[in-house]
Amino acid sequence: MTDGAPMLRPGRIGTVELGNRMVRAATSETMATEDGTITPALVDFYRRLAKGGAGLIITGHIYVERRGQYAPFQTGIESDAKVPGWRGLVEAVHADGGTIFAELAHAGSQSVVPGNTPCAPSIVPNAIFATRPEELTPDGIDAVIDAFGQAARRAVEAGFDGIHIHGGNGYLISQFMSPLANTRTDKWGGSAENRGRFLVEVYRAIRAAVGPDFPVTARIGMADPGAGGLTVADSLETVRLLQPEGLNAVEPVYCIMNSYLDNIRPYVGVGAGRALRDWAVERLWKPPSTEAYYRPFAKNIKQACPDLPVILVGGIRTTQIMSEVIGSGDADFVAMARPFVREPDLPKKIIAGRKGMVDCVSCNLCLEHEGQDGLKCWRKTTGDLVEHLRLRYLR
Ligand SMILES: Cc1cc2nc3c(=O)[nH]c(=O)nc-3n(C[C@H](O)[C@H](O)[C@H](O)COP(=O)(O)O)c2cc1C
Repeated sequence: MTDGAPMLRPGRIGTVELGNRMVRAATSETMATEDGTITPALVDFYRRLAKGGAGLIITGHIYVERRGQYAPFQTGIESDAKVPGWRGLVEAVHADGGTIFAELAHAGSQSVVPGNTPCAPSIVPNAIFATRPEELTPDGIDAVIDAFGQAARRAVEAGFDGIHIHGGNGYLISQFMSPLANTRTDKWGGSAENRGRFLVEVYRAIRAAVGPDFPVTARIGMADPGAGGLTVADSLETVRLLQPEGLNAVEPVYCIMNSYLDNIRPYVGVGAGRALRDWAVERLWKPPSTEAYYRPFAKNIKQACPDLPVILVGGIRTTQIMSEVIGSGDADFVAMARPFVREPDLPKKIIAGRKGMVDCVSCNLCLEHEGQDGLKCWRKTTGDLVEHLRLRYLR
C-alpha cells in the first residue's frame, strides 16, 4: 500500500466528499449518436471508469446548444429529451461507487462540425482551425448564457454530482476572455473585467439553476501562450470575482491556443527506452514534454486565492509528482486525461501500491481519432496499433 500518499487521501469539493484526490479529467469520447444522445457503449465506458476508482470523474465536454457542438458524435445536453440518457449513465456510475461532474461547454468558433455556422464574441478566425464565426449580438450572448443555465438544470435532473464549466482551451468562454479573439467595444469586451464578464455570467446562470450547495467548478484559461494575449493578471481578476460567489474549484489551463498540442503535450516524461518498448519511435526525434506543465498556474491561483481548491491537470504521469504537487500545497487534486484512456483503473492500481510512471506515453493517437472513432488507446495492443494505421492511411 502507498499509505498516506497525498493523492490517496479523501478530498472535498463543495458539499461532495471524494474518496481520493485522483480525478479523471474531461476527455471527449465522441461516442454519442449523431444527435448527441448517450449510447450503451458510452455507459459501459463510464462504468469502467467508475470501477477504476477515480475520486472524481469529469465527463467529456457536453454542448449546451447545438451551435456550440465541437465535434461529430460529441454528447449534448441542449434539450430535456437528453436527460433520460444522461440519467442512465449517471446511475451506472453511482452503482459502481463513482462521483461524476458534467462538463458544460460551448465551442464557439472552434466548432469543427460540418455545416455548422459557429458564433463567437467577434469575427476573428479561430486560432487553430481558421474558421470564420458570426459575431454574437447582445441578445445572442444572453441566449447562450441562458443555455448554460438550462443545461445545468438538466444535469441536476440527470443526477450529476456537480457541474464543471469548460472555460479554457480556446472554446467560447476563452474566446471572450482573450483580447486576441474578443475585439468588442461593448460591456463584453475591452478591459479584463469586461472580457471576464461572460464567464462570470455563465457561472451565475448555472449557480442560479443549481442552488447554493451544488458543487460548481471550472476549467479556466489562465493565459494565452503567445504575446499580446490574455495574461495571468487578467484571468486572476475573474477568478477573484468567482470565489466569493461560491465557485468550488478551479482547473487552470491555457486560454486561446494555436494548436491542441499547447494543452495536450506529447511524450510527457517519456525516455527513449520507454518509447522503444511501446513502438513510439517518433519520440526519438521529438523531445519529451515535462510533467505537470500547468503547475505555475496552480501556484498563481494559490497565491491569489489560498482557500480555493485547485485541480491540476496537464502531464501528471508519476506517483511521485502526484504526491508532490498535492503535498506541497500547489494543488488539492491531480487530474489526468490520457492516462485514463490507457488505464481506466489507474487509481485502483495506485491505491493497491503501484508506483512510478503510468503506462500512457502521450503519443496523442487518441486525439487523432477524436470525432471519427470512439475514445480508446490505440497503442495498448499490437492489434489496436495496426487498426490505427489502417484507419490513418486507408480510411
Ligand atoms: C482525446 C482528448 C479529448 C479531450 N477532450 C477534452 C474535453 O472534452 N474537455 C476538456 O476540458 N479537455 C479535454 N481534453 C484535454 C484534457 O482534459 C487535458 O487537459 C489534456 O489532455 C492534458 O492532460 P493529460 O496530460 O493528463 O492528458 C482532451 C484531451 C484528449 C487527449
